[in-house]
Amino acid sequence: MSNVQIRFLVQPAPALRRSTGVASEDSMTAAATAPPVRRHLHPPPVAATPFPYNSGSLLSVQDLTLEAVSHLLARASLLENLDPLVRDRILLKRRVALLFYESSTRTRTSFELAAKGLGADTTLVSNLSSSIEKGETLKDTGLTLRALGAEAIILRHNSSGAPWLLEEATRLPVLNAGDGMHEHPTQALLDLRTILAHLRPGIEAVSADTLAGVTVTITGDILHSRVARSNMLLLPRLGAHVLLCGPAQFLPELATGAGPGISIERDFDAALRQSQVVMMLRIQAERLAGQQIDLEHYKASYQLTGQRLAAHAPSALVMHPGPIIRGLELTAGVADGSQSVILEQVRHGVAIRMAVVERALADSSTKAGRA
Ligand code: CP
Repeated sequence: MSNVQIRFLVQPAPALRRSTGVASEDSMTAAATAPPVRRHLHPPPVAATPFPYNSGSLLSVQDLTLEAVSHLLARASLLENLDPLVRDRILLKRRVALLFYESSTRTRTSFELAAKGLGADTTLVSNLSSSIEKGETLKDTGLTLRALGAEAIILRHNSSGAPWLLEEATRLPVLNAGDGMHEHPTQALLDLRTILAHLRPGIEAVSADTLAGVTVTITGDILHSRVARSNMLLLPRLGAHVLLCGPAQFLPELATGAGPGISIERDFDAALRQSQVVMMLRIQAERLAGQQIDLEHYKASYQLTGQRLAAHAPSALVMHPGPIIRGLELTAGVADGSQSVILEQVRHGVAIRMAVVERALADSSTKAGRA
């Protein structure tokens, strides 16, 4: 939501009072004597899609055309294979801030390694060890980082939409490292790179039919998963069929309307039989907001076990964005088994994030003080 719209939402009182047709004596007196006040009955026009303001930002996978996805995949491969002593000249001494309001192992570390691998200086600001604890807002924290010379901000936040607000406030390139229950675009890109490496080796230039004939089953707590959402927004654009699987508590029926190429199969075994890829999700206990779940019943229906995998999907790739909870959504044997590409996903994260950070800083006009 833009500032303009936000201002409208918090300032409608005079217009609302007038629209009731009931004017108090005080207000009529004031209206007769006060200079005319400009009131917006409707918000002033704004661009239909103002975001992203900065061409280097990555807020949503929807920001990326398939051509842009192809470019990122190609750059990821090139940067991964470049001599580190050459690679670290690419963003030498550029400044990248990591702003994390939620815990992270994979995303934070890989973004940091990616930026440093390109020669950038990085700094980490965490909500647990910064003035955020004292009440400093996201906007003020972002503006402070910018004043300190940050040229791009990598943001993880527990509120959906936070990266859009940060980008609007700072106009710096903002990279969404996961916002609430909304999106995790770089996770979807690294998941795509992992899938391509196994099912379409050598392909980096993707098109609308690159994944035709591939069914990706996403199983578990889909309702709370930003990873599921970004994959649902990306994979069908390449022709994949995304099959969602889980109990109604974690997978409302309306999820089928999320987009083309997406359907629901509640029977996990039936879903597995159709799958070339099975992506398991953790139950996000931190977002359950009082919801109760019968774990034994959940495991009986949706845990990925070695027996289930051998019986129904003996050659499917097993993926998981992490962190995995061994013994809950999947067994330790499956996590460590030959079909698991979970640690490959982690490795692909560094290459993808190098490409995304490079893209963020490609436009020199984003340098601090010039934007
Ligand atoms: N996949 C993922 O986002 O993991 P982290 O929370 O450890 O960053």
